[in-house]
Amino acid sequence: MATTEAEQVVETSGGTYFPVHTDSIRLDSVPSFALYFQPSVDQPYVLYCERKTTFTREAKRRLQQNKITQLLITKKDRAAYSRYLAEHLNDVLEDARLTVREKSTILYDSAQAVVEDVLKEPTQRANIERGKVVVQRTVEFMRSKEFMLEHLLRTISCDYYLYTHSINVTAYSIALAMRSGYIDPATLREVANGALLHDVGETTLPPDLKNKEGQLTSEEWKLMRAHPEEGVKLLQKTGCLGEIAQDIVLCHHEKLNGHGYPNKLKGDQISPFVRIVTIADIFDALTTERFHQKRMSSFEALKLMRETMRDELDMDLFRNFVTMMGGKR
Ligand SMILES: [Fe+2]
Repeated sequence: MATTEAEQVVETSGGTYFPVHTDSIRLDSVPSFALYFQPSVDQPYVLYCERKTTFTREAKRRLQQNKITQLLITKKDRAAYSRYLAEHLNDVLEDARLTVREKSTILYDSAQAVVEDVLKEPTQRANIERGKVVVQRTVEFMRSKEFMLEHLLRTISCDYYLYTHSINVTAYSIALAMRSGYIDPATLREVANGALLHDVGETTLPPDLKNKEGQLTSEEWKLMRAHPEEGVKLLQKTGCLGEIAQDIVLCHHEKLNGHGYPNKLKGDQISPFVRIVTIADIFDALTTERFHQKRMSSFEALKLMRETMRDELDMDLFRNFVTMMGGKR
């Protein structure tokens, strides 16, 4: 299982550093951020490439010669890295020298950087547009012949952060939608945009509420249950999401038996796209490690969902999900 960037963040006296995959830095590109590396575990970080310098074939060759697959960037360069990735993702995904597994890892890392920005400033149109670029590339990659779900599942983080959860739910949702016969790229992109931003309303919650130990007060529940509507309000300010995506953000906690929120919708009032994202959302919540909650294996999670959520979830879609996961993870 690949670790996430957030897990590997390194604090030093020189600042905070984030690891980046060397293959995400493209030959002859001119990154606007500096790249560092650590010669060995007990040594300090060394500047490898100055910002605004061409990443040459020679620079790449030296890395390969020394079997270095990871470089570091500073915290203040994170936004620049995120923009760089969104710009070069196409190039990475079309690189025949990279394996599908490596592409999946870089795609996942790029998505993390971009989604973190989106969640920090959800009303910034530029952030949402970058998120949409990543979604578009993800859909294209997942629809290509070379794509194998297994590789992406190996990359998926088992630790909960809002941004990793958002990306995991997006990957599961695209895969489940395709498995269920939705093949139109524009529709898949809308489903993916909605999945990526389904919990964006949580950014308006008090920071400690999500991780509170024990029972929530009725006031806290009220706040928590308002996150779908808050999410739609945030996104309407940017004006760059379509109807399917907004519907997903608003309805992802609705249940087929009418016991969900915010509008207690029932059966056919809930669109198939919302139902897809709901399954993906619950599955990822159960299978990732959270504060005060141990993660379940995928087998345990699917069993629990089948046994206790029969009236809440679309069972036809759920069966597709079970077959798709094939008992992995
Ligand atoms: Fe949610």
